[in-house]
Amino acid sequence: MMFGFDTVVMDTDGNKIIDSRAVLDTLSPSMKRRMERIIDIDSAAGEFESYPLYQAGREIGAIGVRQMKRIGSIDNKEAIFKKRGEEFLLISFIIAGGGALFLSVFFTLFLSMPLKKMRKAVDAMAGGNFSVRLPVGSGDEIGSLSESFNFMAEALEREEALRKHLTSNITHELRTPLTIMKANVEAMIDGVISDQEGGLGNIRVEVENLIRLIEGIEDITRAEASFFTGKDYTRINLPEFLSGIVSRMAPLAAEKGLESKLVTKKTVNALADRYKLETIIRNLLSNAIKYTGTGGIGIDYGIRKQMLFIRITDSGHGIPEDRTDLVFKKFYRGDDSNGTGIGLAIVKELAEVMGGRIDLESAPGEGSVFTIWLPVQTWI
Ligand SMILES: Nc1ncnc2c1ncn2[C@@H]1O[C@H](COP(=O)(O)OP(=O)(O)OP(=O)(O)O)[C@@H](O)[C@H]1O
Ligand SMILES: [Mg+2]
Repeated sequence: MMFGFDTVVMDTDGNKIIDSRAVLDTLSPSMKRRMERIIDIDSAAGEFESYPLYQAGREIGAIGVRQMKRIGSIDNKEAIFKKRGEEFLLISFIIAGGGALFLSVFFTLFLSMPLKKMRKAVDAMAGGNFSVRLPVGSGDEIGSLSESFNFMAEALEREEALRKHLTSNITHELRTPLTIMKANVEAMIDGVISDQEGGLGNIRVEVENLIRLIEGIEDITRAEASFFTGKDYTRINLPEFLSGIVSRMAPLAAEKGLESKLVTKKTVNALADRYKLETIIRNLLSNAIKYTGTGGIGIDYGIRKQMLFIRITDSGHGIPEDRTDLVFKKFYRGDDSNGTGIGLAIVKELAEVMGGRIDLESAPGEGSVFTIWLPVQTWI
């Protein structure tokens, strides 16, 4: 009926079983009224076109149809139905197309974002920033690539830190012998050192120190082993060793009108890394000279509680209590310093490499006492 056909269903003998009118009469009055606004059964005229009905291959009757007059609204409904259909199709296309577009953009971003991040990280690393790391979220190829990248970045960062550490230590240690040599040469020129031979001897020792330092650097490049961490023990006559250092640095002290002297003279033979110990003493002495205005510097040594100590006492401006730890930190320097602030960091590191430590007692305005302690078993 909805398609504008008056319909009748008949049995095989051609008797009517049900027709459109009978169906219409079974509807509720309101539904019937609505249907009658769409179709007009009375307008149907002429013969029914008959089509046989089958069930499981057996003919059970026939259905007859004939055209009814279609009331205008049915055409409207059809048009609306068609329009809705077209709209539905269009919307479906838009949704499907939009979805596909969204998915392709999403996957492109999903894949390209980590790659972009990776490129940025590589650029940063090429610029010398070795602290960059990539997030390792996924367990896929990109995740494992990020992991490898982070591993490489970590290794490079460690290498870079070691390189910086060594460069700054070496630079610092190159400066000390040169400063001592300069002071000795100037003292000889000015006639402050009358003993030319002694002055030249001091310079020769410092030249040897420089050569040893260069050899140390060569060792590092050769074996990548830090000469700041290796140990090279030799037998040392302590009073001789210390007075040698004091005498070579005497012109530096004299420039400031200071006197530095070895207070103890007792015999102690030691088994120690000569170069490391000399580096420690020279750093402490050069600080004592730098940060002392008047008075002098004394050095003494001895054995106490199974430890060997070497003590450097000055009458300088001292170090406030809240800075006694700070001064050993790398690059910390006081307002009065024109250095790099790594001397005491080197001293601490070398003392620890030899299994020892460094102590500091200081009274501002009165002076400082730096004591280096080394395990006695390394001494005979
Ligand atoms: N004997 C001392 N008396 C007073 N202050 C000292 C003494 N030794 C060190 N200091 C303080 O500790 C700081 C750190 O000393 P450190 O030797 O590490 O560096 P620096 O002497 O400043 O520079 P450099 O790298 O040339 O040695 C100094 O800047 C100074 O303020
Ligand atoms: Mg210093």
